[in-house]
Amino acid sequence: MTDIHVEVDGTPVAGLAGQSIAALLLASGRTSWRRTREGRPRGVFCGIGACFDCVVTVNGLRDVRACLRRAVDGDRVELQEDDRA
Ligand code: FES
Repeated sequence: MTDIHVEVDGTPVAGLAGQSIAALLLASGRTSWRRTREGRPRGVFCGIGACFDCVVTVNGLRDVRACLRRAVDGDRVELQEDDRA
């Protein structure tokens, strides 16, 4: 497998080509990467794109489901807070 490198909140993280962003985040030691408006941590729940618990911002695009989006070399991933009323 080919090594890829993405940036997670400004920190370089290595992964494997074909790996989902959720898998890359889990492999890097994160178990949650989003907080609800109430401050509750969220990460992967369903793993199949149904619950939206895993959303992140990828290359400036909000609400990308990390369990469905494959990580691509050079991606910039930003963790999200639920700040919408
Ligand atoms: S974990 Fe449910 S949509 Fe990604």
